[in-house]
Amino acid sequence: MANVAVIGAQWGDEGKGKVVDWLASRADVVVRFQGGHNAGHTLVVGNQTYKLSLLPSGLVRGKLGVIGNGVVVDPDALLSEIARVRAQGLIVTPETLRIADNAVLILPLHPALDKAREEARGERKIGTTGRGIGPAYEDKVARRAIRVADLAEPETLSAKLDELLLHYNTLLKGLGKEPFSKNILLEGLLKLAPQILPFAEPVWERLDELRRAGKRILFEGAQAVMLDVDHGTYPFVTSSNTVAATAASGSGVGPSAVGFVLGIAKAYTTRVGSGPFPTELHDDIGRLLGERGHEFGTVTGRPRRCGWFDAAMVRQAVKIGGVHGLALTKLDVLDGLTELKICTGYQINGTFFRHLPAGQAAQAAAVPEYEVMEGWSGSSRGARSWADLPAQAVKYVRRIEELVEAPVTLVSTSPERDDTIMVRDPFEG
Ligand code: GDP
Ligand code: IMO
Ligand code: MG
Repeated sequence: MANVAVIGAQWGDEGKGKVVDWLASRADVVVRFQGGHNAGHTLVVGNQTYKLSLLPSGLVRGKLGVIGNGVVVDPDALLSEIARVRAQGLIVTPETLRIADNAVLILPLHPALDKAREEARGERKIGTTGRGIGPAYEDKVARRAIRVADLAEPETLSAKLDELLLHYNTLLKGLGKEPFSKNILLEGLLKLAPQILPFAEPVWERLDELRRAGKRILFEGAQAVMLDVDHGTYPFVTSSNTVAATAASGSGVGPSAVGFVLGIAKAYTTRVGSGPFPTELHDDIGRLLGERGHEFGTVTGRPRRCGWFDAAMVRQAVKIGGVHGLALTKLDVLDGLTELKICTGYQINGTFFRHLPAGQAAQAAAVPEYEVMEGWSGSSRGARSWADLPAQAVKYVRRIEELVEAPVTLVSTSPERDDTIMVRDPFEG
């Protein structure tokens, strides 16, 4: 298995960016295949911190980055991000970044509708990032989206804007918001076109060539299995499929090209936004995890909800996502806790479940059943080998392996790139 796909195995922010950056030294190209700038991936290299949303994390190592067709691209956000990371010294040019010509664009009307709908939902809001991700994917499926290649065709843009505005202005007016003007949107797109088009190409062809030349591809997932539009805690999910299978359809390669699936999970659990979270802690331990783990959303700055490790949920993500190995991150955050709990299943209205069932009310009613483990007094922070870990921390990792039914192939012990224990090289399969 020459290629690797990295996906989140919880509700996002597991540390995918750190792991992708670490693995990128072994890869030739890093490919984003779903999501958009709702993602926030943090990389810490020495005294530099990079926060990437749309750009593939391999760019920090100077590796070719590809934004696949499955990503929804906000061209304004992309150009600002490029300017931001260039100011940090990264090189982003059409030689180092390629964007699928058939990727869907996010326009200013998408975040406007996203936010207006959230406002209208009130208490029942999803807690989206407000970046227009949902509306953009809706347009793709409804066959009215503007795509990257359309930027080279002013007449196509004009006709598609008419269709989009008919839809959006009707909705926005209904929600009491200002309608959009076609001319302003069209002028905006025509101005962006010469800045975006040099990056555009049929990326499937480049990926095919790279594969035939024996190059290694690293697929970088965004969000996570429990935010997957089919398999997650619907409707409190994102609007794309986040499982590893999407790496193929979202970049234009066959399913056998995906390779080793590395699921990323924190040694505890966090979630941003609304929705069920059976192991959530509302006590001092929850606050401690949030403080120690610096649990604030990379994109929105919102505090993340924190709780115990949910092995039933991660096991579900392992099965659905086809996870071959798990990377366990943020083990250091648990240092010094006297007692740790791991959720092994749920009581729901008098019945025991080993998985989270699909019903919305059932998910909300899930009460976790816990297994209790002793904590450790030593420090795991910065460990780079098993030998550096407190014995009880190794026991905790081993128990997680058993419960989620997947081997732990990587452990991360601080935000810093090299504070990582590699048990098995995922590129070696
Ligand atoms: P992503 O969305 O999955 O890429 O994760 P984010 O970057 O949004 O959030 C993960 C946060 O945890 C970032 O601030 C990382 O720097 C940090 N992080 C990653 N791995 C570790 C780790 O092993 N220990 C600690 N303490 N922090 C980590
Ligand atoms: P990374 O890649 C954590 C959550 C939002 C909200 C739901 C829907 O950094 O792990 P959306 O804007 O996608 O329509 O919001 O999904 N969400 C994330 N949570 N990490 C992310 O990305 C997320 N991307 C979206 O908080 O609950
Ligand atoms: Mg994140």
